Amino acid sequence: MNWKICAILSGVMLLLSGCKDEKSSDVIKFGLSADYPPFEYYENGELKGFDVDLAHMVASEMGKKAEFEDMGFNAALVALNGDSIQAVISTVTSTPERRKNYDLSKCYYAESLATVYNKKEPYATTGALSKGVNVACQLGTTMELWVKKQASDANLILMDKNPEMIEALKADQIDCVVVDTVQAKAFCANNPGLSYSVVAQTDEGYAIAFKKQSPLKDGANAAIKKFEKNGDLEKLKAKWQL
Ligand code: ARG
Repeated sequence: MNWKICAILSGVMLLLSGCKDEKSSDVIKFGLSADYPPFEYYENGELKGFDVDLAHMVASEMGKKAEFEDMGFNAALVALNGDSIQAVISTVTSTPERRKNYDLSKCYYAESLATVYNKKEPYATTGALSKGVNVACQLGTTMELWVKKQASDANLILMDKNPEMIEALKADQIDCVVVDTVQAKAFCANNPGLSYSVVAQTDEGYAIAFKKQSPLKDGANAAIKKFEKNGDLEKLKAKWQL
């Protein structure tokens, strides 16, 4: 066998053994960015949220255990290309671009976008995000794409974690933040000086992201379908007041 065939064969074997490992392992390691209440966040040092519960439910339905690694949102999607995690559950919006690069599960939650601002200086419409306005959003998110497209005159500031943006807003270092609406509600509930407005409805929803050709996607989809049918998904939404 010449070295080229040998290299190709061992590559294929490596790939197959990787798939088998993922399928046969009794753990699914989920990457997430735990800065997004009520979906993924820390409370008294404990990782909590709708996505965390859903990951446990999906994994256990597949006969596995869920484990988590808290990374930045962008970092989690990048890490999915390697072997340290097998999935990302982190309010990942299922976009056409992401569907090209990853296997996305069925959507489990419909999203919309909102601006968050100091009550004394509202930015309640897309039009208000005009030239010179400092708008922050999280790196690598659909908000980044939306601001670039819909508010291209505004000053876009990209940050890694959401609490940083909220702190910057409260300190008047920026004018407003763009996040998912549920997220905006949660931040405003915890910060009485802030308010929010819904600025865009999207057709997209949140999905679990897997590597391309992941052997885990079908099982996850079957689990989500089951939870839709038997009411468990609704119960989970009610638990997190969504
Ligand atoms: N839904 C948006 C997206 O998919 C933002 C997700 C940010 N999630 C987080 N846990 N920080 O781009």
